[in-house]
Amino acid sequence: MIENDADAWAVILAGGKGARLAPFTGDMPKQLLTWRGKPLFWHSAEAFARCALMRGLVFVFPENLLAEAENLIENLTDRHDLGLPWKIVAGGSTRAESSRNGVLALPRSVRRVLIHDAARPFLQPALIWRILEALDETVGGVAPTLPVKETVKRVDADGLVAQTVPRDLLAVAQTPQGFWTEILKRSWPDEFPPDITDDAMLLENAGLRVRTVQGQEDNVKITTAEDLKLIADEGFSLPCSGFGYDAHRYGEGRPLKLGGVPIPGKFRVVAHSDGDVLLHALIDAMLGCACLGDIGQHFPDGESAYEGISSAILLDQTAGLVKDAGMEITQADLTVVAQAPALAPFAREIRKNVAHLLGLPFERVNFKATTEEKMGYTGRLEGIKAYALVNGLRKFRQ
Ligand code: CTP
Ligand code: MG
Repeated sequence: MIENDADAWAVILAGGKGARLAPFTGDMPKQLLTWRGKPLFWHSAEAFARCALMRGLVFVFPENLLAEAENLIENLTDRHDLGLPWKIVAGGSTRAESSRNGVLALPRSVRRVLIHDAARPFLQPALIWRILEALDETVGGVAPTLPVKETVKRVDADGLVAQTVPRDLLAVAQTPQGFWTEILKRSWPDEFPPDITDDAMLLENAGLRVRTVQGQEDNVKITTAEDLKLIADEGFSLPCSGFGYDAHRYGEGRPLKLGGVPIPGKFRVVAHSDGDVLLHALIDAMLGCACLGDIGQHFPDGESAYEGISSAILLDQTAGLVKDAGMEITQADLTVVAQAPALAPFAREIRKNVAHLLGLPFERVNFKATTEEKMGYTGRLEGIKAYALVNGLRKFRQ
């Protein structure tokens, strides 16, 4: 039975080099990889903290990462206090030595210890409960295991099958493994053999009893490149919208162009660039959708580089900016307000051209033209204005 004044601490082993994964992680030790916005080892710490039986944590890190890891843990606890005391110690050159250093750092009163690989970030509190419940006076330790599902072969040095091993007596061991601290310490040899891969082995070697309990199916140890897929940050997308508006005065200036399409006739606009009021509104809407400010910020009016520049070029650059910001434009709705010229004859071509500029299918771009019934400055033929609404999907990392 579990006592109310449970005294269990966990030792989280993050003292390895992650050598097998180094080519895929840019040499970053795997326990420090980020998954769901937190370093991998922290997920185990959170699982222990969610289990009401736990009283404290010891983190084991490589000597050369100790200061960095301590800083990291302090920052993480500032963000989300685990509500448990913790310590950090340097590991050794093997897992067994790291484990011993962690256990030696436990407060004296700690009678039960759970030793866990930081490389197993999917640990659930239910497994911790199962282990502590099974750790009674009749055993020295408890190891979670899973049955072997595949047919198991012994293979000789030439790659030939030597034997099929009956699998009903085989099991795959996981961590955390739970121990009576004193019994675990008693199992330590003066020198650890090099082939020790978990703590239960030490008890076995010393002839001490280790009970098995059902492991957790998805409690995988991140070990190979294939496993990295399990901690790939999926990120998420949110729908977003951006609004844009622009106006130009009619007068001596550029020939009228809307959505990159020349509109023949007497109307000309006063402008620094090519004066395409519709593309300017669209650019602002795209920037708005990606929270990137406005057109003036990116293409200042006074700069000679932009004098007479085709707005299609500005739009193209804007498309690059919003793409870099993780945004995919899905749709645009455009409105031009002008008393004259009549724009209906150009609607299809404008739609087609804007769709082309945005790299969207024709049916995802809409174009409308309207008048203001001879009211206001458009009504008096003093100018022209445009509105644009852009919808998109914006990708966020966790
Ligand atoms: N570990 C440790 N100290 C060591 C070696 C390993 O604390 N000297 C820890 C690892 O950080 C890991 C766990 O033991 O959480 C299981 O080891 P493993 O998966 O082998 O990790 P690494 O030793 O880091 O990886 P590799 O063997 O590929 O170098
Ligand atoms: Mg290793």
